[in-house]
Amino acid sequence: MNKFTTASFLKAKAEGHKISMLTAYDYSMAKLVDEAGVDSILVGDSLGMVVLGYENTLQVTVDDIIHHCKAVARGTKRALVIADMPFLSYHVSVEDTVRNAGRMIQEGQAHCVKLEGGAEVIDKVEAIVKAQIPVIGHLGLTPQSVNIMGGFKVQGKSEAQAKKIIEDAKLLEKAGAFAVVLECVPEKLAKIITESINIPTIGIGAGKHCDGQVLVTQDMLGMFSDFVPKFVKQYSEVGISIQEGVKAYIDEIQTGAFPEEKHTFKIDEETLKKLY
Ligand code: KIV
Repeated sequence: MNKFTTASFLKAKAEGHKISMLTAYDYSMAKLVDEAGVDSILVGDSLGMVVLGYENTLQVTVDDIIHHCKAVARGTKRALVIADMPFLSYHVSVEDTVRNAGRMIQEGQAHCVKLEGGAEVIDKVEAIVKAQIPVIGHLGLTPQSVNIMGGFKVQGKSEAQAKKIIEDAKLLEKAGAFAVVLECVPEKLAKIITESINIPTIGIGAGKHCDGQVLVTQDMLGMFSDFVPKFVKQYSEVGISIQEGVKAYIDEIQTGAFPEEKHTFKIDEETLKKLY
């Protein structure tokens, strides 16, 4: 089994292997997606919505990501584990940023970190890379900026916006990022960006020309129904399957069909007699 590393990202782009990325937030899901062969696992701040039930990602903390990242790392043998830098963990100062990124590696056992933004965070990206921590950028719809963007909207439709995203992708590459996530940008803009930089682009709602794709696992498996974005393809109906299983369990408790003899433990008759 060859581990998928940051070097594998660059090799994949050069060789035309499309990179697969999924989110995971716990040991058992990480084990399942890793064993299924996914190249990289993102402990995304989407955990705020999908796992913790928040309205957006803004309440997620460094400690939350580290807690979940540890579990994911324990369940992962081959995939590259990416820790998402949450809101305010890389906005205050360069020193604070490097310390937080370092905690993701040292405590969270992640292999690298991801953060949102372009020109505004370039000094932070440079500092993290200088500290020998690999970085993935994230451009387009950057959910931590939801209040500035006025909602979760497609980005890069205007000439000015599109040019800024292209420029930001080049800046991230120059600063040492080894990949860039492109979220909710027009497919043709993602193609231009993918062709303009030597590091891989990982798309989510950015079309087929990216060097790889990422989805939130709960979305693509049909486990999270609060909001299903247009770009999600549902590959399974795990949510329905879970509910069917739970309903059957409740029903069998009532009817006495569960537990059966094979689910029980025995006591020898002599001991039993002494209990009456
Ligand atoms: O937090 C997350 O899951 C992400 C992906 C949507 C790229 O950032």
